[in-house]
Amino acid sequence: MKHPLSHRIRPLNTHRKHVGLSLLLLKEAHSTNSVLLDDHELLSQKGLVVLADRQTAGRGRKNRTWESGSNRHLFASAVLHPVLPQRLFPAITLLAGLSVFRALSALDIDGLSMKWPNDVLIQGKKVCGILCESKKVGDTLFMVLGIGLNIEGDASQFSCELRDKVTTIHHETGKAVSRDILLEQILSELDMVITNAYDGKTASLFAEWERCSSSLGRKVRFEHEGMVMQGSISGLASSGTLLVKRDNAEVTEVLSGEIIYL
Ligand code: BTN
Repeated sequence: MKHPLSHRIRPLNTHRKHVGLSLLLLKEAHSTNSVLLDDHELLSQKGLVVLADRQTAGRGRKNRTWESGSNRHLFASAVLHPVLPQRLFPAITLLAGLSVFRALSALDIDGLSMKWPNDVLIQGKKVCGILCESKKVGDTLFMVLGIGLNIEGDASQFSCELRDKVTTIHHETGKAVSRDILLEQILSELDMVITNAYDGKTASLFAEWERCSSSLGRKVRFEHEGMVMQGSISGLASSGTLLVKRDNAEVTEVLSGEIIYL
């Protein structure tokens, strides 16, 4: 039997290799990541992207909520297919952040940067978050990459706790930017970056990430093996984990979690 949503999937850019070959546009979704993760047939569609006009239960990292805001924003999730080699798992969030960074760079935004592992910031405020989730079906581990990007209006549409931490493209640039054009650019960058990563070129991608993140040398607090530590960022390891030089000169490899700029 045909999938009930299959008639709504339309080709996007069939020249791409890995990401963004076809699109399923929904008026509303609980979470675009869940639309894919909960449906094996959609999950197996090579390069499918789900885009929703609105999310009612968007998820962020660490079980946080990703707010929908009251204006129009980008809520999209992409299937990474063919299945990503395991060596690239730690790198994928960084590579997705780099793709968004590249796409936004074209808008000439002042103070655009990246914060490890998954945030894109403008003037130190979060404009984009990325949530990578996976699901094992049989022996295959499917990977879904969710991108939330604040486009219209300003921070006042978000909850009080977020207002001084987040921003939107419109607020920072004064420009009315098309969500669909931005998505197109992000997917093109993502496809290029992932193709390069498959070809073993992660070192130059990480070097680009380090240059663009403006976080080298920054003092941070982070959690490691249950302990809170402090140090300054010295760069990325060859796998994409973060290297932090502690105050006692030891270098700690931070695999996951969050860093707080001091
Ligand atoms: C974070 O910074 O905590 C990650 C936020 C990721 C939000 C996006 S919006 C589209 C996709 N669907 C979700 O439920 N989450 C991601």
